[in-house]
Amino acid sequence: MTKQNNATINLINSRRTIRAYNPKTLTQEEIDTIIQGAIRAPTAGNLMMYSIIQVSDQELKEKLVKTCDNQPHIAKAPLVLLFLADMQRWWDYFKVSKVKEKCNKIGKEFQTPQESDLLLACCDALIAAQNSVIAAEALGIGSCYIGDIIENYEIHREMFSLPKWVFPITLICFGYPKGDKNKISLTTRFPQKFIKFTNKYSRLSEENFNEMLRNDKRRIVDKEAENMGQQLYLGKLGADYSVEMRRSVKVALKEWLKKD
Ligand SMILES: Cc1cc2nc3c(=O)[nH]c(=O)nc-3n(C[C@H](O)[C@H](O)[C@H](O)COP(=O)(O)O)c2cc1C
Repeated sequence: MTKQNNATINLINSRRTIRAYNPKTLTQEEIDTIIQGAIRAPTAGNLMMYSIIQVSDQELKEKLVKTCDNQPHIAKAPLVLLFLADMQRWWDYFKVSKVKEKCNKIGKEFQTPQESDLLLACCDALIAAQNSVIAAEALGIGSCYIGDIIENYEIHREMFSLPKWVFPITLICFGYPKGDKNKISLTTRFPQKFIKFTNKYSRLSEENFNEMLRNDKRRIVDKEAENMGQQLYLGKLGADYSVEMRRSVKVALKEWLKKD
């Protein structure tokens, strides 16, 4: 049993992704509260290795519908926030602070951002993003992550003038739910025992997988799929959007790692 009679816990447990929005615009106070929620999130070394772009231009939103795997709810969301893993701000500051010159002087190697910096900046950006989701939820405002923002890196870089050490890790649509959100059923999750281990990792057996998926509400819809494993691969990890994500992220990584 988990603790239930706590407003924050109840909020977390009753959140569901909202994809249909009431067109009512959000007030500046509501937007500021959502952004401030993001900004108060924990951040590695208190470095805030992320930036947030509010996408208010309707043309940009319409373009995102297409570049993010044709998702019309992006254009209908009253608030769209793009979360960027951002090392550029620090590198620009290090440049004005003459850090490279100082390193040369004291015989310390000056390293440009690498894979670990990108992963840490992604952690920062995503943790900030989730805090904004919870802050919105507390105001009764629904949200939907758009993971497809990691597709089409070259187009998004151009659309938002992103410099070299900035990577768009997630996009979030926000808005008051259209209709009663309680009518959207909560999605299922796997039982804790398959997700949380103690002290060491456990790989699962075929029997475990069958039990793990027993109460899953997803259905097999692909006519080629004979079981849920084949359905999830064909519908998600093997789908065209995943193939595009892999291509796009490879290009972004190459750019990130290119020597200045
Ligand atoms: C990283 C990430 C990427 C996601 N990308 C999308 C997306 O592109 N489009 C969408 O409609 N929902 C997207 N979602 C929402 C998930 O589909 C949703 O969280 C999941 O189905 C569970 O439903 P729930 O949030 O209502 O519990 C994404 C969620 C996460 C965390």
